[in-house]
Order: sequence, then C-alpha cells, then structure tokens
Amino acid sequence: MGAKLRILGIETSCDETAAAVVSRHDDGTGRIEADVVLSQLDEHSAYGGVVPEIAARAHVDALDSLIEEALTRAGTRLSEIDAIAATAGPGLIGGLLVGLMTGKAIARATGKPLYAINHLEGHALTARLTDNLRFPYLMLLVSGGHTQLVLVRGVGSYERWGTTIDDALGEAFDKTAKLLGLPYPGGPEVERAAATGDEERFAFPRPLVGEARLDFSFSGLKTAVRQAAESIAPVSDQDIADICASFQRAISRTLDDRIGRGLLRFLTEFPQTDGLPALVVAGGVAANKALRRTLQALCDRHGFRFVAPPHHLCTDNAVMIAWAGLERMALGMPADPLDVQPRSRWPLDADAQALLSYGKRGAKA
Ligand code: KG4
Ligand code: ZN
Repeated sequence: MGAKLRILGIETSCDETAAAVVSRHDDGTGRIEADVVLSQLDEHSAYGGVVPEIAARAHVDALDSLIEEALTRAGTRLSEIDAIAATAGPGLIGGLLVGLMTGKAIARATGKPLYAINHLEGHALTARLTDNLRFPYLMLLVSGGHTQLVLVRGVGSYERWGTTIDDALGEAFDKTAKLLGLPYPGGPEVERAAATGDEERFAFPRPLVGEARLDFSFSGLKTAVRQAAESIAPVSDQDIADICASFQRAISRTLDDRIGRGLLRFLTEFPQTDGLPALVVAGGVAANKALRRTLQALCDRHGFRFVAPPHHLCTDNAVMIAWAGLERMALGMPADPLDVQPRSRWPLDADAQALLSYGKRGAKA
C-alpha cells in the first residue's frame, strides 16, 4: 500500500447535514474513517416535504459540530487532512451556501485545497469506493429530487441518457403516499402497504414504455392513483394496500422497459468491457425491495452485474462527496478557487438539455 490521501467531505444540498473523513491509497482503494449524517426529517415532516429555509437554518446549526464529530471519530484533525470537498450543487441554494462557505472557511484557515463537488458526481462515483468498479458503467439515480440514467465514462465524464420529464421517482412515491393519507416520506410507507396488496387490482399507466428515448415520466401515474382512490372513496386499508401494490408494479414495469433499453444501448456502445458490464443504483428509492428485485432480474437477463451500495451510501451522505474529491485529487485535477459559487442547477452532463424546472427539492439537473 502506497501513499494515502485524506479528505474532509461536507454535504448540505438538501435535508441531510453530513460530514465525513475518507482516505484513498494510491492503489485506488478507499477507506471510510468517519461518516456522520444528521437527517432533518423531523423538522420537515409536519410540512409534508422539505422547506428550504428550515433546511438552511438547520445546516447552520448542525454543520460545525458534525465536522468536529467526524474528525474526532476518524481520530484526526484538520492539520492532518489533505483537502476539503464540499457539495457546490445541484440542490437548495441556502443549504449549498452553508456547506460551501464552511468548506471555503476551513480551506482558507488551513491553507488546504478546496474541491467544489457536484452532488450527482458523488452518487455516480460511490460504487468505485464500495465495489472498486471500473469505468465505464451505468448509474441509475432514483431519489426525491432526481431520476437519471447516466453513463459514467470516467471522473468528470458523464453522459445523461435519460431523465424524468416531470416528477422524480421518489417524489411520485411521496405524492402517492400523501394522497392516500400516509405519512412523509412516502416511499417506505408505500412499500410497506404494498406488501399486503393486490398488484393486479388497478391497471395504472406505464408512461413512455415502448419509446426509444430513455426518459421517464411519473406525473400521469400519480394522477391515475388519485382518480382510482377517488372512484372507490372512502378507501379502506386494503384499498390502500392494493393501490400501493399496483402503483409499485407499474413503476417496476416502467423501469424494466426504460432501463432494459439503457442496458442494450450500453452493450452496443461498449461491446467489450473489462469484466461484466455493470449497473449501479443510487438514491433513496434504491431502498425499495420490489424495485431492486426488478433491476436485479433485468441485469441477470442482460448479463450485467447489479451493484447496490449499502443504503446509507445510496442516500445523501458526505462520504460520496469526500470520495469524489479524492478521485479528482488523485488524478491531479485542479482544486477550485475560493471564490467558487454554489449552483442550484448543475447538470452532470453539460451537453444534456434541461427537461425540467425547479421542484420542491430544488432545481433538477
Ligand atoms: O436520496 P434520498 O434519501 O434524498 C433525497 O432525495 O434528497 O431520497 C429520498 C426519497 C424520498 O422520496 C423517499 O420517499 C424515497 O427516497 N424512498 C423510497 C423508499 N425509501 C425512501 N421510495 C420507495 N421505496 C422505499 N423503500
Ligand atoms: Zn442525492
């Protein structure tokens, strides 16, 4: 094992305040030395979604002590850190400002380099830390704010193959839960209810299925759920379970079609890969077991390796931000100047057109 780089990571783009210390040996392997995440769920749940102003204030309150805790847990101090990596976008601007300004202040005070990291790059590169994955591979990011199928060619080299033209997948789960009277966040509630439901009872639409483009659309599904619920109101617990099961089935079928096309495109573009081609899943919705089963079966059918990093590294965290900084640093990519600005909108793939506007959870890249 050769020289080691160690980075402090900071993540504040949405409703998790997070700090981490991660190191990387020059053989490319990494080690998580500390991983601290404070979820603001309790602060937002009464509102049924993330309130940007509350989020920004909560980041201000928590970040300093979380950074201290991460350093203590890692048994290190700022003077022993090689660089600072902070999320600079995309996300809610108030939160981004808190994290990036803190990163700048630490960089300034210690004289260490600052890496302003794209949050989506953090998700995209995590599988290289957890599974030592080689480029190129495909990544499906499914969270409350994003639904994207991305070709990961290398550090800083991404092609967005598909994105949602309306709601993010997590948002569709949350909205469905809300209109059925289930608590926020809705994803786990819908999954729980679906377990005892009849997935054949409602024939919900499967938007864009069969189309050659690789995009997603979930708002029509949500409308269909509302109409189904209204048509049988008042709904019983069994009705709710049946709706949730049918909703999840429609999503599974949609992903099967959309991602299946993505895998075929990957095989056409990269007929030879070093080992099995791989699909990585990330984002909070990746916790859903029915969707995982669908993706696993799809990968098995097409000869892909299915990589799902542990749940706490799929949802928002600072480990992935630190790791993205480490990957950049190891390649000799330049650090950022201290006047770097946060960007609420920051697509991973600069050539991809924005198909979306600003959502509840911030700008959609
Ligand atoms: O990545 P994440 O923790 O946070 C952000 O989007 O920032 O994702 C949260 C989303 C929420 O929409 C939540 O409802 C959804 O992930 N989610 C799930 C499940 N667990 C969380 N959706 C479906 N099934 C689940 N088990
Ligand atoms: Zn995220």
